[in-house]
Amino acid sequence: MTVIDRGSVEDLLVNAPTKNSKVLDFVRSIAERTTPDAIEWITGSEEQRSSLLSQAIDTGTIVKLSHPEDSYYAASDPDDVARVEDRTFICSEKEEDAGPLNNWVAPAEMKGILNDVFAGAMRGRTMYVIPFVMGHVDATQPMFGIEVTDSPYVVLSMGIMARTGDVALEAIDRLGADFVECVHSVGAPLEPGQDDVAWPCSSTKYITHFPEDRSIWSYGSGYGGNALLGKKAYALRIASAIAHDEGWLAEHMLILKLTNPEGESKYVAAAFPSACGKTNLAMIEPNIPGWKAETLGDDIAWMRFGPDGQLYAVNPEFGLFGVAPGTGYVTNPTAMTAIEAGGNVFTNVALTDDGGVWWEGMTDEKPAHLTDWRGNDWTPESETPAAHPNSRFCTPIANVPTIAPEWQNPDGVPISAILFGGRRKTTMPLVTQTSDWNHGVFMGSILSSETTAAAVGKVGVVRRDPMAMRPFIGYNVGDYLQHWINIGKTDGARLPKIFYVNWFRRAEDNSFLWPGFTENARILKWVFERVNGTADAVQTPVGFAPVAGGIDLDGLDITEEQVQKALEVKPDEWAEELQSIDAWYDELGEHVPAELRAEVEELRDRLGLK
Ligand code: GTP
Ligand code: MN
Ligand code: MN
Repeated sequence: MTVIDRGSVEDLLVNAPTKNSKVLDFVRSIAERTTPDAIEWITGSEEQRSSLLSQAIDTGTIVKLSHPEDSYYAASDPDDVARVEDRTFICSEKEEDAGPLNNWVAPAEMKGILNDVFAGAMRGRTMYVIPFVMGHVDATQPMFGIEVTDSPYVVLSMGIMARTGDVALEAIDRLGADFVECVHSVGAPLEPGQDDVAWPCSSTKYITHFPEDRSIWSYGSGYGGNALLGKKAYALRIASAIAHDEGWLAEHMLILKLTNPEGESKYVAAAFPSACGKTNLAMIEPNIPGWKAETLGDDIAWMRFGPDGQLYAVNPEFGLFGVAPGTGYVTNPTAMTAIEAGGNVFTNVALTDDGGVWWEGMTDEKPAHLTDWRGNDWTPESETPAAHPNSRFCTPIANVPTIAPEWQNPDGVPISAILFGGRRKTTMPLVTQTSDWNHGVFMGSILSSETTAAAVGKVGVVRRDPMAMRPFIGYNVGDYLQHWINIGKTDGARLPKIFYVNWFRRAEDNSFLWPGFTENARILKWVFERVNGTADAVQTPVGFAPVAGGIDLDGLDITEEQVQKALEVKPDEWAEELQSIDAWYDELGEHVPAELRAEVEELRDRLGLK
């Protein structure tokens, strides 16, 4: 029994704002399966947003804050706080096309499972239809999606994170464009008379991707990375599969504009794993006289070759979904200014007694009393954090005071340098430049990081995370690495230079060797000058490193010796690293490109370990 006293799906569709049969067929088929009480089409209007906000306040899903302006707070179910990588599936026809890092289930089998779990899943709820475009609607190749969801929290968050509503639907209709079908349910149908909870979700979770059909089905979670399907699911997993077929790159990268004192600008993209500093670096305010940085994106970059052979990057998103803890007036004042401009949705942060928000690291001094993310009283003596370690701020990117004027360029900006980096206590130097594209792809392929709270699981374990894309590659990782190698072989390509950075190397006493944050601008300056050919370097077995005195330390309270320690290539550490690289490539199996196997042998040779 799934249909309870409700009109037929056709009745629910009478007010559809489109006659596009592809759109209507999709929406109809999901409504028939999930049997919502109502269908609401998201237009992007302010009236609609206000009415959704009041409804979500009434059900307790969100709380209106006293400040910042127009800002809201949601506390999730304590078991629904992060991406669930063990419940994330790539359902390609062949297992080999998903493996070896992704969970795989055959499409027919997964569709059977989804048929069961989605049957009647939206009963008692409204199904919202969110047309959206990732990137600019006037791009040469605009990329559309339609997310249907039964979560008002998802609607409000998607409204910040993507260009949603009429702007997208009109363009889909006008262009007769394809769109990625995105289906989301919190998996908590309501019986007549049953009271709703503030954060409905299910203990059964499926975050599933069909790269061949270009569709996404997500069940059971309301958390951003699992439920805001334009983001990781589309802009990385599905888009990486599209990019592989079409010869471009969909990457987990920030985009930054740097301008030197002479007024010359360059654009840099950087890939660091989740909670390893992208949002921070994207908003950096250099304190080196005459240098300027501006923001274009903090999480995702799509890069396509332009007519001049350069890779042009766009940020497909429209908002920030940033890790809150550690974002503060000292570490990231730019993000704090963006947040204070209002229009935020916060999730799992702590509440102050005057109706504002707080999280660890926002201010040096802890408030005397808070309500923690679980709704309990909290004082500085409490033993648990006030905000969940993966609590987030969701903020319009237009709020960012350092936003570059060209951030809405439909076809993006030309990239001069790519940085790869992760969180490593040892081994990886503060910065090195790779010797050519293949060496750069190799360094990206062995990117490693100690795990963080951004995904469910143990924190602090070193894992390989190729190009910071491990949880986001929508196909075989070896084929993905081959795709990177092939990009480098494109006729007429004027490729960016590739660098590897590590802000997180530690001294013997476990303190950070490099102060990081704002001071990373000094590393960006070296990168800029290497691209321009004006900075010297020394060759090490693992890449080109700055010469002694090559990093501008003017005005900084650390010694050249300490920087040299941060830059050091230690033979014993690299001997161990090489063994781990061998094991990593064995794990990846036979799809690893021959070009990258050759890079390992060259590294072995340079380290004298042959
Ligand atoms: P996702 O949005 O999950 O993809 O992560 P992200 O890469 O944007 O991470 P974010 O910038 O939010 O950084 C998260 C954590 O890294 C915070 O705890 C920061 O304090 C810390 N962090 C960022 N930059 C630095 C740095 O230069 N040095 C040190 N030591 N920590 C940093
Ligand atoms: Mn991310
Ligand atoms: Mn981020």
